[in-house]
Parts: sequence; structure tokens; C-alpha cells
Amino acid sequence: MKTLVAYFSAEGTTARLAKHLADAIHADCFEIKPVEPYTAADINWKSPLARCNKEKIGKKDVPYVGTVSNFDQYDTICLGFPIWYYGAPNIIQTFCKDYDWTGKKIILFATSGGSNLGKTADKLKPFIKGDPTVISAGVFDSAGHLAAAVQGAM
Ligand SMILES: Cc1cc2nc3c(=O)[nH]c(=O)nc-3n(C[C@H](O)[C@H](O)[C@H](O)COP(=O)(O)O)c2cc1C
Repeated sequence: MKTLVAYFSAEGTTARLAKHLADAIHADCFEIKPVEPYTAADINWKSPLARCNKEKIGKKDVPYVGTVSNFDQYDTICLGFPIWYYGAPNIIQTFCKDYDWTGKKIILFATSGGSNLGKTADKLKPFIKGDPTVISAGVFDSAGHLAAAVQGAM
């Protein structure tokens, strides 16, 4: 069985950690890329009318490009994202809803400006069908620490 690293990154920080992780554990990598890329204005949460705030308030789905082919082949999925509003960005919920997670192991990893994961895993649960096992979850600021944590969990 195989491992997939699936990640969303608006500003590049999570992408850097995710790519390093995929290399370190020889996993396939899927970027969860919004159909409409985020501009700097879109993610300016200080502006009430910014796209990120509208998506958050409207609980909107955020479509992404493509799909993971043959999701069934993966037994472990490392799911990475930036913390937005103390949780996962809406695009992660959209991604989670699209697949059947029965029998999967999930590793959640995030980057943030300082927040920890808090209730992020619990808040994602309603969007993940199949009751998978979360074997590890954390916020990381170093690619090396993330790879070591994941290698230790697997
Ligand atoms: C819309 C938005 C909301 C954010 N909310 C939080 C937050 O609640 N807590 C936090 O520590 N950082 C927050 N951040 C900062 C990001 O989590 C942090 O900069 C992250 O490393 C960015 O990852 P990326 O470069 O992969 O997009 C937020 C950033 C954005 C754009």
C-alpha cells in the first residue's frame, strides 16, 4: 500500500514542507489547487470583504483542480494546510468530502502564524466519511521536524 501527501498552500509555506515530506517518505504528492487561485487581496483577512472572509462566513465550498486518481490505492494520507481562522481552510473540507476515507490512516499537518491545531481535527470530522484513524496531527515550522514526526508515526 502507498502513502499520499495532499496539501493546500496559499503562500508557499505549507507547500515547502509538503514537498519535503513527500520526498522523505517516498510518497505521491497531490496539490489541492483552487480553481480560482488566491491573490494577495483574496487572503487579506484584515479586509472584511476579502474572498477568504466571505468563504469563511458563507461556509463555501472551494473547488480545486483535478482529482486524486485511484484514491483506493493509498492506506495513509498526509493532509497539509495552513491554519485559517483556527482551523482548516474551506478547500480542505471540499477535498475531504470528495473521497471515501474508510480504512485510511490520516496524518494532519499544518503551518500557522502561531496557532496550534486546537479543534481542527474535530471540526473536519463531519466532512470525512468513513471514520478514518487520525494517527498524528500537528503544526510545524520546520520541514525536518515534520518528516521526523511522520516517520515516527507510520
Ligand atoms: C485567511 C487567513 C487566516 C489565517 N488564520 C490564522 C490563524 O487563525 N492562526 C494562525 O496562527 N495563523 C493564521 N494565518 C496565517 C497562516 O496560517 C500562515 O501564514 C501559514 O503558514 C500560511 O501557509 P501557506 O504559506 O502554505 O499558505 C492565516 C492566514 C490567512 C491567509
